Amino acid sequence: MANYTKTNLAYWNEMARRHVDSPGYRTAAFRRGENILDPIVRDGIGKVRGKKLLHLQCHFGLDTLSLARMGADVTGLDFSKDAIATARALAKETGLTAKFVRANVLTPPPELKGFDIVFASWGAICWMHDMASWMRTAAKALKRGGRLFLAEAHPYLMSLDDHPREPALPFSVRYDYDSDVPLKLANQGDYAGPGSLKAHRNVMFLHGMAKILNCAIAAGFRIDGIEEGCHIPWQGLQQLIKADEDYWTLPPGAPFVPLSLILNATKI
Ligand SMILES: C[S@@+](CC[C@H](N)C(=O)[O-])C[C@H]1O[C@@H](n2cnc3c(N)ncnc32)[C@H](O)[C@@H]1O
Repeated sequence: MANYTKTNLAYWNEMARRHVDSPGYRTAAFRRGENILDPIVRDGIGKVRGKKLLHLQCHFGLDTLSLARMGADVTGLDFSKDAIATARALAKETGLTAKFVRANVLTPPPELKGFDIVFASWGAICWMHDMASWMRTAAKALKRGGRLFLAEAHPYLMSLDDHPREPALPFSVRYDYDSDVPLKLANQGDYAGPGSLKAHRNVMFLHGMAKILNCAIAAGFRIDGIEEGCHIPWQGLQQLIKADEDYWTLPPGAPFVPLSLILNATKI
């Protein structure tokens, strides 16, 4: 396993253990039977009843199990043993049917194929050193005519300074918009709640729009649509303000910068 994967695995195992009871995740509402998918994902993914759906990087399974609740025949994949164990426990507790597979998304088990929909959201691709390989995983898992639905942090957002000395406007650019050089971060906090992490290091990779789309096309996708929006589910920049229960958005007076990227593509 590559060193960066080990670092990220330790980080995500700790995050999975924390997140099940974290204020940033609506586990209690999910346990009460609510659909906790955020509206961008819920509306964007559309009807899933009876569809064979693969959720890449499913974390501890809240979205995966919400899709099961909507009638999908769903499989979640994540490399974190703690995330997968929690997802399986939540499925058992709520009586929902879903499969959970522990695997690196870049080397998935070959039996993951024949899906109608592949889905991933909010902080998935920044952990990938190889965007082309991630898109190949998605394409190989789909039937011909199957659909990729990706709701992500916009590459432009990822380049902005998330810890400015003065959180002023306009935003300032801090990181490369696209790079092959890993971004090694220490003293990382938990985006979903207070407190400090033992596994506080992580390694991210920045993928610009051209790279994301070119990798999708090279993997055999037709791009059906791209949307750039100004709502994301976490406070990605200190200047963002709470929009509603689900999202953070731009403050009044801020220049428009895209915060989210919604990609719809079909395997041809
Ligand atoms: C920010 S979370 C995704 C958010 C998710 N949509 C949710 O429900 O909160 C990123 C996930 O990617 C997973 N991950 C990171 N690198 C991975 C890899 N190489 N293979 C599989 N999963 C990975 C982490 O374990 C984590 O669960």
